[in-house]
Amino acid sequence: MPANIVVGTQWGDEGKGKIIDILASRADVVVRSQGGNNAGHTVVNNGEVYKLHLVPSGILYKNTLCLIGAGVVLDPKDFTGELRELESRGISTDNLKIDPRAQIVMPWHIALDGLSESFRGSKDIGTTKRGIGPAYCDKYERCGIRMYDLVHPDILAEKIQSTGTLKNKIITEVYGGEPFDLDAVTKEYTEYGKILAPHMDDVSVLTFNAHKEGKTIMFEGAQATLLDIDFGTYPYVTSSHPLSAGVCVGTGVGPKVITNIIGVAKAYTTRVGKGPFPTELDDEIGDRIRNTGGEFGTTTGRPRRTGWFDAVIVRHSVRVNGLDSLAINKLDTLANIGTLKICVAYKKPDGTVTEHFPPALEELDGCEPIYEEFEGFTEDISDCRTFEELPESCQKYILRLEELVGCHVGMIGVGPDRTQVIER
Ligand code: GDP
Ligand code: IMO
Ligand code: MG
Repeated sequence: MPANIVVGTQWGDEGKGKIIDILASRADVVVRSQGGNNAGHTVVNNGEVYKLHLVPSGILYKNTLCLIGAGVVLDPKDFTGELRELESRGISTDNLKIDPRAQIVMPWHIALDGLSESFRGSKDIGTTKRGIGPAYCDKYERCGIRMYDLVHPDILAEKIQSTGTLKNKIITEVYGGEPFDLDAVTKEYTEYGKILAPHMDDVSVLTFNAHKEGKTIMFEGAQATLLDIDFGTYPYVTSSHPLSAGVCVGTGVGPKVITNIIGVAKAYTTRVGKGPFPTELDDEIGDRIRNTGGEFGTTTGRPRRTGWFDAVIVRHSVRVNGLDSLAINKLDTLANIGTLKICVAYKKPDGTVTEHFPPALEELDGCEPIYEEFEGFTEDISDCRTFEELPESCQKYILRLEELVGCHVGMIGVGPDRTQVIER
């Protein structure tokens, strides 16, 4: 009856897809609860690479039920493309269900994402321009179009006319952009509705029943803690709650269902998009980590910013998510880097030291990372399958990291493949 949550503990792209894929092999149900196709999760099986955006990573297992909960924002154009791509590679998508309450990303959300980013100029957030923020805005403004509406053509047509008319006014009169032809949008989205209708089902009920029947459930996080709308580096965040607690509201399950919460981190830190990054390496070591680790965005292809492991942010994640354990990925990428560093605390401009991530960017400004240094390693560790097989310097790095963030490291990634992991 375990119900595991997997969440990101840094700024995304920690390798959640790989960890979820490994754990999904032991799960009956995999559920996505927030975010949209801003996410990009990579799963590697025997050299075959799958890049998933909205489809839960459990899809690669034939008998796993894959669910998309009410808290997700779903772009039907991109999503149907993802389904087609999976089907063309011989992966069945029959076991995939979407909650009728999930919000639909409409074309004006994508347009408005781009227009508002341009309006912000040099103060842009660096969004994925997938319409995520504007779609969540409409949800809270209570004018969103939901999955239920998408598969009911009369409701859809009416909502596209009412919401679309207002959106066209904003696009043209506020931003000077091009309006959408609402009849064409209605026609196109009605077709998506027809394709997706067989996939609509009440995810809250399905999850509840699976739990009652003693099935193993995995909740798949997208984005990460430091991108959380409240507990991240606001305003340089996404518009949902990637925290463990977000799973309950985003799926419609009670918190007592959850038995285990696993946080995923990299052995260093990366970030795409703008915003603070205290341990960022703007030098040759940062370039080396980027190139060796293939640190380019899965969704947008943008080069990821790279830096040392920051125990302050992961400590914050351990607390706000209530983590039971951590999976540390990409330890292999740190080979041949030389001396390694971990940020243990921040020194504030007034000379005081804090171990807690500040609540506002203004307080983070001027904070200096305080580092501890570690002997590096040169061995290829990608074939190690037990902790004891790792070079002593790697072991020391992980043991100290564990101590600094206050959480047990239960898994260590030594390569992208689903087999390249050490379980402790
Ligand atoms: P996600 O968004 O958290 O699922 O992560 P992404 O898929 O966007 O990015 C993680 C990248 O790291 C992918 O290219 C993975 O294949 C790769 N990866 C995951 N774990 C490991 C690991 O332990 N070692 C190496 N070398 N690559 C890994
Ligand atoms: P996964 O699930 C990394 C970042 C964007 C931007 C900010 C806001 O693969 O870890 P948005 O389009 O969400 O409004 O952009 O959030 N971002 C991610 N960064 N991984 C992700 O997902 C991300 N999803 C959003 O780069 O800085
Ligand atoms: Mg990703």
